[in-house]
Amino acid sequence: MALAQGDVIAARRAGLKRMGEHMTAMKAASDARAPGTQFVGTLEEMITFYQGLPARFPAGTESGGETKALPTIWSDPVGFSGASAETVAKLQALRTAAASGDGAAFEAAWKAVGPTCGACHRTYRAR
Ligand code: HEC
Repeated sequence: MALAQGDVIAARRAGLKRMGEHMTAMKAASDARAPGTQFVGTLEEMITFYQGLPARFPAGTESGGETKALPTIWSDPVGFSGASAETVAKLQALRTAAASGDGAAFEAAWKAVGPTCGACHRTYRAR
C-alpha cells in the first residue's frame, strides 16, 4: 500500500517537473518573441496532463511518499479541479497562439499561464 502511494506521488511529481521544463523551454521563445509554432505538440501534452491532474491526487496520497501536496486538495476538491481547469484554459489559448505563428500573441499567452500555476500552488502546495 505504502509502495503504491509512493509510486503515484513519484509519478505526479515527475510529470509536474516535466511541465516546469516545458514552461522554461517556452519562456525562451516568448522572450525572443519567436512564433512558438514548434510547441503545439508540447502544448497538447500539457493540456492532457492538466486535464488529468486532479486524478493524480487520489485519496491516500497525502502521505506515503515525499509530497508537498496540502490537505486542502482533499478538503476542497472542487476548488482544486477548478484551479487545474484554469491552467488548461490558458494552455488552450497558448496552443492557439502557437499554431497562429504570431510571436506577440505567443508571448502574451505564455505570460498568462504562469499565474494560474502559482494560484494553485499558493493554496494547494506546501512551500
Ligand atoms: C491544480 C493545481 C496545480 C496546478 C494548476 C499546477 N500545479 Fe504544480 N504542483 C501542484 C501540487 C499540489 C504540487 C506538489 C505535488 C507533490 O509534491 O506531490 C505541484 C508541484 C509542482 C512542481 C514540483 C515537482 C517536483 O519536482 O516535485 C513543479 C515543477 C510544478 N508543480 C510546476 C507547475 C507548472 C509549471 C504549472 C503550470 C503550467 C503547475 N505546476 C500548475 C499543483 C498544481
